[in-house]
Amino acid sequence: VRSQIIGCGSYLPSRLVTNAELAAKVDTTDEWIVERSGIRQRHIAAEGETTSDLATNAALRALEAAGIAGSAVDLVIVATATPDNTFPATATKVQSRIGMKHGFAFDVQAVCSGFVYALSVADNFIKSGQVQTALVIGAETFSRILDWNDRTTCVLFGDGAGAVVLRANRGKGSSADRGILSTHLHSDGSHYDLLYVDGGPSSTQTVGHVHMEGREVFRHAVINLASVVGEALSANDLKASDIDWVVPHQANRRIIEGTAKKLGFPLDKMVMTVDRHANTSAASIPLALTEAVSDGRIKPGQLVLLEAMGGGFTWGSALVRM
Ligand code: ACO
Repeated sequence: VRSQIIGCGSYLPSRLVTNAELAAKVDTTDEWIVERSGIRQRHIAAEGETTSDLATNAALRALEAAGIAGSAVDLVIVATATPDNTFPATATKVQSRIGMKHGFAFDVQAVCSGFVYALSVADNFIKSGQVQTALVIGAETFSRILDWNDRTTCVLFGDGAGAVVLRANRGKGSSADRGILSTHLHSDGSHYDLLYVDGGPSSTQTVGHVHMEGREVFRHAVINLASVVGEALSANDLKASDIDWVVPHQANRRIIEGTAKKLGFPLDKMVMTVDRHANTSAASIPLALTEAVSDGRIKPGQLVLLEAMGGGFTWGSALVRM
């Protein structure tokens, strides 16, 4: 059994914030942000617009693309580090809003690697036979955990959501080989202090703000991403040249370029949205995937490699035949 992606969808809040707008509030410039990160703008959620709102909008579009009703979904997983509430899970809000009355829903927290983690969890539920159809969503409102006076972090992130519908492919007909081929997950909790949020219900009873040692995160990101992409290739006996598209987590253009160079992927195989979306954490991969599927770059049957790295550290990859 393979977990086949039968539909993708995404949603971005309508409010656009340019680098120039940020430069009017903190000591930064458009040139600095573009040169160091490749980011030109980000979408920011409106007041009162929450992660579950973005997640539900992306989910409804993915269901429409898949041509199925919400009531046909057995499992909803929302990957997020910015849930609406401490509990219940944001996924249960989405479950109710898509009209799903059976099955189960929960959140996964692996920050920027959250979507790859959630995809891996859903894939295992499908492979075990416990679930037929799963909705996997990455959704974030990082704007709510940024210190908007800290120029070293506030310029790098944005809000958004993306979703995929997975369905058990029992290997019949022309699409027999389509689906997730493998997933590879890792974490190393010893790097806690390089990227973390300084709040939380149990420690401070606050939401807190993002803190990051940018240079150190950058260094670890390129090493770990190269390693986990190599793992996906060798597990499937493939070379970089066999991959049609890489959909990386969109943290920073230089991390994406550094990883591509290290692994021998030409830049035109890397799907890039960081210039317009900034870093949307768990939402960045399904946002980029949806864009490249919708505009016709990614075609049915092609091999697509997803990769991500985030706080924890957490990192992972997934190889998918679309
Ligand atoms: N505008 C202007 N100057 C700035 C800004 C800003 N927004 N932010 C920092 N600076 C200054 C610093 O204060 C520093 O000044 P100093 O030399 O006088 O001390 C100077 O710019 C250089 O700062 P560095 O942090 O060394 O700059 P660097 O080239 O490393 O770029 C960046 C910073 C973009 C954060 C980079 O390290 C990076 O991309 N790191 C990866 C972090 C990341 O993407 N994390 C996302 C979450 S994890 C993930 O998704 C992988």
